[in-house]
Amino acid sequence: MTTGCEFKPGLEGIPAAQSSISFVDGKQGILEYRGIRIEELAKKSSFLEVAYLLIWNKLPTDSELEQFKSDILNHRRIKYRIRDMMKCFPETGHPMDALQTSAAALGLFYSRRALDKPDYIYDAVVRLLAKIPTMVAAFNLMREGNDPVQPNDSLDYAANFLYMMTEKRPHDYQSKIFDTCLTLHAEHTMNASTFSAMVTASTLTDPYAVMASAVGTLAGPLHGGANEEVLLMLEQIGSIDNVQSYVDECVANKQKIMGFGHRVYKVKDPRAVILQGLAEQLFELEGEDPYYKVALELEKVVEAKYGQKGIYANVDFYSGLVYRKLGIPSDLFTPLFAIARVAGWLAHWKEQLGVNRIFRPTQQYTGVHDQPYIPLEERM
Ligand code: ACO
Repeated sequence: MTTGCEFKPGLEGIPAAQSSISFVDGKQGILEYRGIRIEELAKKSSFLEVAYLLIWNKLPTDSELEQFKSDILNHRRIKYRIRDMMKCFPETGHPMDALQTSAAALGLFYSRRALDKPDYIYDAVVRLLAKIPTMVAAFNLMREGNDPVQPNDSLDYAANFLYMMTEKRPHDYQSKIFDTCLTLHAEHTMNASTFSAMVTASTLTDPYAVMASAVGTLAGPLHGGANEEVLLMLEQIGSIDNVQSYVDECVANKQKIMGFGHRVYKVKDPRAVILQGLAEQLFELEGEDPYYKVALELEKVVEAKYGQKGIYANVDFYSGLVYRKLGIPSDLFTPLFAIARVAGWLAHWKEQLGVNRIFRPTQQYTGVHDQPYIPLEERM
């Protein structure tokens, strides 16, 4: 039975929406947010400025940005009851699962829903951008039996997150590098988690359910979970002498090498280029990560083997090395991705609401018809 359309596994190449939020040219390695190249935004803008640009389709004026930052600063704290709920999470649970649960729980505490009101959209944007980092940092401390660290009002968005992780004020260069990482991960066209957010948004549910869907989708190792896997892989390889044999083994076993390959990019991901620069900047100031040489050798060997197939380092390949140098535990790498991507998900949520039609694709049925019903006692 056919539906008249060609079936494409993974919907590869099928437009699922029209969007003006971001653009990727996978052959040339170009990424733009609202038409502005990622290299320029990474150098010149803060993450919150980029979030504003993505969501409201304009770079904020000085006063708009100050108001936005101040509103977010005023909403960073989470309710005691949310903290109490998080205290009951198992300490062995993955932080992405903790984040998905806490993000969904916000819908219980902020149950007003007025999707057609700009003030409701603004408040939801502020609340989610403000509270998601606090929830990630709180779970990280609570799972070790510590009390969460309250947000520090004298610190900006990125610095405050690093502070809530350790209770130490980060150096300015650390905050700046982390802020740039957030910008790099803020948005990336129609990927799995964004699609998941949009499908959920199209039912006109609340934005917290939208974020929870997206977080759950980002958690998988083929999507946001790969950056955590990259560090595990580098540790497993251990030294540059083992790189070639590791790659040969992966080829023989048809096993994918984490941090390489992308559905869209057929050259090195432009975000990987910037992240590698940030890693080197950090290593210069604080000493090199012992696995950086392994990563460089791996990139060389994978490029030689797979470059012709268009498989190059993706965004996840160098981000883990940066995060580890910033003192972030490896199972928080994907939650960091989520903290940043909330900006893009919110932009798509808002865009979807403006043109909404519930997602209802079709399927090609491959089962049988007119089967006889077999009574229970006759079944084999
Ligand atoms: N290592 C080795 N071979 C690879 C890799 C890799 N990392 N990625 C793709 N290939 C090969 C596949 O084996 C396949 O080969 P074949 O044609 O001989 O069968 C071919 O390239 C196409 O691969 P697909 O998986 O079909 O490509 P797809 O576009 O579906 O996958 C994906 C993209 C999922 C990212 C894939 O490259 C992958 O699994 N990479 C490793 C995980 C990873 O790093 N994920 C993070 C992606 S970035 C992000 O989500 C934020």
